[in-house]
Amino acid sequence: MIILSIETSCDETGITIFKATGQQNKASFEILATSLSSQVKIHAQYGGVFPSLAKREHQKNLPILFKRTMKKAGLENKKKPFDLIVVTSGPGLEPALWTGIVFTKELAEKYTVPLLPVNHMEGHIFSVFAKNKGTFTIPKINFPALSLLVSGGHTELVLMRDWLQYEVIGQTLDDAAGEAFDKVARMMELPYPGGPEVSRLAEEFRKFVNLRTFAQAGEPSKANFHQKIMRGEKIHKLSEHDSSNILSERMTLPRPMKYSKNFDFSFSGLKTAVLYLIRDLKEENIKIDEKLKSEIACEFENAVVETLVHKTKKAVEKYSIKTLIVAGGVSANKHLKKEMQKMLKDTNSKTTLLFPDKKLTGDNSVMIGVAGYLEYIKNKTKSMNSKNIQAEGNLKL
Ligand code: KG4
Ligand code: ZN
Repeated sequence: MIILSIETSCDETGITIFKATGQQNKASFEILATSLSSQVKIHAQYGGVFPSLAKREHQKNLPILFKRTMKKAGLENKKKPFDLIVVTSGPGLEPALWTGIVFTKELAEKYTVPLLPVNHMEGHIFSVFAKNKGTFTIPKINFPALSLLVSGGHTELVLMRDWLQYEVIGQTLDDAAGEAFDKVARMMELPYPGGPEVSRLAEEFRKFVNLRTFAQAGEPSKANFHQKIMRGEKIHKLSEHDSSNILSERMTLPRPMKYSKNFDFSFSGLKTAVLYLIRDLKEENIKIDEKLKSEIACEFENAVVETLVHKTKKAVEKYSIKTLIVAGGVSANKHLKKEMQKMLKDTNSKTTLLFPDKKLTGDNSVMIGVAGYLEYIKNKTKSMNSKNIQAEGNLKL
């Protein structure tokens, strides 16, 4: 069947047209055309996503992208171009979600095809099986599976005993991991979205520490090698500037709830600790330069990743998890991926680890289409009346 899939939950307008066949763990997809339009540049000036602006942009983008995607898929002149429409109905920003829902309701009526609402977080789970172009098949996976979903609005551990069965066993009690990255970035006057920028600085600091360690260990050749692979002037200057010896001790940030007995998270205290650290440094007239920012970014990233990995490890052990999925915007974080791989290796775990393709870590309509098709063939929502579909900002899995 041909599926049209639309995602507008936040600041990305996504439209994908697929050909889908087969049942559950053998479902195959062929992407006929896919488009994604990001509003990041528009929201950057406000330091975060502005809901009414997001709504306006989606409304403007949807008809343009739709026309373009239909053309790319060669369906623009078809009487009945698709058999099913799926749309994100939540969680997300309600004004943004409504734009996709209203748009797809009109199409569903025009072409008399069923319209199915999809949970955005379920989409993120399925992103690990998808590709951004061409064809792909849902593989056979072993259950129980566990999904660590880390995005701008969510941080949760979801237990899956079978396909499409979800039990949230832990979640953040306050800020989401991505939200904490974005807020810490803003404190350091880094551009929005902060996650990639904080992560880039953290990686630079790690390289710098490596370089210093090699130099101190009397291995200048390795140090030179590292210097070469580092990117130019900026890094070079960092290694000359050596405030880190004095500052490193006070840089230690908390790991909130790391040892709590449940699977919940909390990132708001960590974010506040960064706020106080920066305030104190400023009061002492210490310049928050690139070097210092990269050190703070590194310690902050370490604290977030350590907590995420520790809780995930506990859940993997407790539920004898066979497949571990990490998805959502923050799954693009290189340190998180490395530490998750290391955790499984260090524990001699046989658990299969799945991360999405880099292009599908953020919001997109490919993942929504995959989740939608699987829900559709399971017939779970057979009696769904598409007229009743509503945007649900806090929709749960
Ligand atoms: O899933 P997503 O695209 O949108 C939501 O559904 O929220 O996630 C966006 C979040 C943002 O907070 C962004 O800063 C974060 O993912 N993010 C990252 C990285 N890339 C994106 N956080 C840490 N490291 C990254 N490399
Ligand atoms: Zn998302």
